[in-house]
Amino acid sequence: MQKIRIEPGKLLRVEGPAAIRVIDGEVYVLGVTYGADSRFTVLRARKVVVKPLKESTLEITLGPDGSVEEARTEEEVIDIWEDATSKIDLEGVTVILGAMDVGKTTMTVMIANKASRAGHRVGIIDADLGQNDLGPPATVDAAVLEPGMYITHLRMLKPVKAMFLKTTSVERVWPEVVDAVKKLVDYLMNVENTRTVVINTDGWVSTDKAVEYKLKLVEVLQPRNIIVIRRGDEVDQLVKNLREKYPSNPPSIVELPAPPAARIRTKEDRRIHREMGYGKYLTPPRDITLDLRKTPIVNFPICSGMPANQDLLNLIRRFIRHPIIYCELAEGFMIAISSQQEKKDVEVLNVPGGGKIVLLPNGWERGLLVGLEDRDNFLLALGRIKKIYYNNCKIVITVSRNFTDISKIDHLRLGMIRLNEQYEEVEKVNYIGRIEALMRKRSSEQQQ
Ligand SMILES: Nc1ncnc2c1ncn2[C@@H]1O[C@H](COP(=O)(O)OP(=O)(O)OP(=O)(O)O)[C@@H](O)[C@H]1O
Ligand SMILES: [Mg+2]
Repeated sequence: MQKIRIEPGKLLRVEGPAAIRVIDGEVYVLGVTYGADSRFTVLRARKVVVKPLKESTLEITLGPDGSVEEARTEEEVIDIWEDATSKIDLEGVTVILGAMDVGKTTMTVMIANKASRAGHRVGIIDADLGQNDLGPPATVDAAVLEPGMYITHLRMLKPVKAMFLKTTSVERVWPEVVDAVKKLVDYLMNVENTRTVVINTDGWVSTDKAVEYKLKLVEVLQPRNIIVIRRGDEVDQLVKNLREKYPSNPPSIVELPAPPAARIRTKEDRRIHREMGYGKYLTPPRDITLDLRKTPIVNFPICSGMPANQDLLNLIRRFIRHPIIYCELAEGFMIAISSQQEKKDVEVLNVPGGGKIVLLPNGWERGLLVGLEDRDNFLLALGRIKKIYYNNCKIVITVSRNFTDISKIDHLRLGMIRLNEQYEEVEKVNYIGRIEALMRKRSSEQQQ
């Protein structure tokens, strides 16, 4: 524990883990002021800038790898961020955009704190699938900050609603992310009665597709404010497109510089963050068994159709030329499970005379991430598939023992990530997307 005396004109940069108590004076942190005898914490691997508004004494307790350093005002963005965000009206939706490690999450916290300080009930959405701080990876989550409550990090809040997006690769599912964020905004505004909603996004901003995604998000959400955090030229194309599309307010488009001293996360840091994320939501483990005929997988039609009879099985075996352990006629195509385990990928085979067979290796399901959803498609819990038994259509899923709402499970949604038993990502299973595409094709053919 150390006591630090600091006067206005100087700044402190605190890297967590750290617990700070203001003994006397007044300091500004992430949109709020902390007076004498108030406390806040900085989480591990996060840096927070503390600005004294009066001469102040702080008591700082550092954890392992925590540190405190003095910073000069001119090397920090704290005043620029505060000035700019004080000028915008925080009622309505504010979207934060920017590349990786530019401080999007930090800005989300700051906006939420400021709105809370203004007496608003604040909704927060974390739409960053890869580096989600509110909920587990591969999800979009919504939380509420009550008026007068302040946080130093999103991880301090518990999500009130979540949606499962199947993967951490936003480029594969961005149209679905747009829908999920919209649904959560509606939920926060209409059910939770939050007048302010702040949305944190992912760092995918520089490619044409990324710009298309961000423009679509803005078009659908119609935010009052867009805050773009700039570092170098990463957001040039995005900002140009936004300004062309929205020449007048709203939305107000505010461009801000990234903190120069921001902590850059390595790929390894990011992977560890995700794996800790899975672990946190899947432990302590317990297995549940569900009947796929009552609780179907909505994006994978296994156990939704008729098992093939012996004649058909023989026919398919001859066509495929190797043994299969199960085959069923789903809507529009056949699903066959090969007895071979070694082959990893799915094969989609065209049957002479029409029709398709989706051939999966035995054990294809082991370790896949799965979403357990309620009837409104909100995520109740994440799971890891252990096994599917084809003879009785039972699925065994490992979930956290903390999840008890089994009766609310309406259906399952298959993810595109395979985890090992230590919850490490071992494979991105992109063929789930191919099967979804087949299902979509089938349902659009039926509608015609
Ligand atoms: N003013 C600042 N000075 C120094 N470091 C900062 C400052 N603001 C934020 N940081 C640190 O920089 C890192 C990146 O910030 P943050 O996580 O907010 O960015 P991000 O854009 O959300 O990143 P990601 O792409 O990983 O989601 C964090 O460790 C954060 O604590
Ligand atoms: Mg972030």
